[in-house]
Amino acid sequence: MNERKFSVPETIRWGPGGLSALILDQTLLPGLHEEKELSTLDDFIEAIVSLRVRGAPLIGITAAIGLAALARQSAAEGISADRLRERFAGWAEGLANARPTAVNLVWAVRRLRARLEAATGDAGALAAALAAEADAIHEEDRRMCRAIGERAAALLAGGESVITHCNAGSLATGGIGTALAPVYVAAETGRRVRVYADETRPLLQGSRLTAWELSRAGIEVTVLADNMAGSLFASDPPDIAFVGSDRIAANGDVANKIGTYPLAVLAHRHGVPFYVLAPTSTVDLGTRTGAEIPIEHRDPDEVRRGFGPLLAPEEAGVYSPAFDITPHELVAGIVTERGIHRPPYTDSLAAAVRAAEVERRHRERRHRPT
Ligand code: MRU
Repeated sequence: MNERKFSVPETIRWGPGGLSALILDQTLLPGLHEEKELSTLDDFIEAIVSLRVRGAPLIGITAAIGLAALARQSAAEGISADRLRERFAGWAEGLANARPTAVNLVWAVRRLRARLEAATGDAGALAAALAAEADAIHEEDRRMCRAIGERAAALLAGGESVITHCNAGSLATGGIGTALAPVYVAAETGRRVRVYADETRPLLQGSRLTAWELSRAGIEVTVLADNMAGSLFASDPPDIAFVGSDRIAANGDVANKIGTYPLAVLAHRHGVPFYVLAPTSTVDLGTRTGAEIPIEHRDPDEVRRGFGPLLAPEEAGVYSPAFDITPHELVAGIVTERGIHRPPYTDSLAAAVRAAEVERRHRERRHRPT
């Protein structure tokens, strides 16, 4: 078999001394490939809000690294453990509220909080515990992406065309992505997969990011403006749709980038199986249905101006939700690192989340110093 491994772009890494983070600034892609250093709480929040880092898993990883970097800086000032715990509460609140829809953000912050609560020792020891947890979240995400890719690659026999929306690729995660992971896995073993990337108005994550990372990997990708998808489905429908998610409710309703729901409706109309690929960290058992998922609304200027000249008069109102909800009835399957879940989703998603939690606790017990 003709095997090749892909080196995906590094989305985030520790800065010098572990006191900051270096992120690939995604607002500059595809024109410029530049890193930006994040040092202060405001830097981390600004990077998440302005989508320099984006994608549900990656913003969770960024918040985790941010909390640990801030803790290391405070420990280096020589503050007490109690003072560090107080400061952590403020940082955690600021980061958790940076964007409301992606549950991975609060999930990561909660994990760091739990690690801090369990840790003992001086400020240096607490900061080290937080950094270890941030590394664990990053490493787990890498593994979850690979597992999702391997499971979902079974849905691709070879020669397929896949349609995707927004960017749920390596740029959205710490690994090979979620929705794009099976494409990388299939291509690694020599299978030909063609990808249609919805442009994804208004911030163009599909054309700027998905098309960039796939082209860079030598995978065939065709960009279409979102309003061209109907024409594509009517004339030459793709074989399968793969999208990511920012939050999956307990019943399988899916929040993802605005435009995902119309894509699911089109897929349903044309008999194209519509799959959601996401780690268990995106499943929120505390949210019963999609109606309970908070939807972020963004600055009207993202629609009004896009990346350049005025596209709508200043006087016009703008409706700009960043995410929509796809009801579970339109979803053929949800692929997590634990398997391909089929409807009805409630029991199998709950079992997957609990099993992932148990496995993580076992791993922690094995790796933590006694
Ligand atoms: O606003 P963004 O660019 O953060 O939106 C990203 C998405 O909608 C992704 O599909 C989702 O976060 C899943 S990423 C694996």
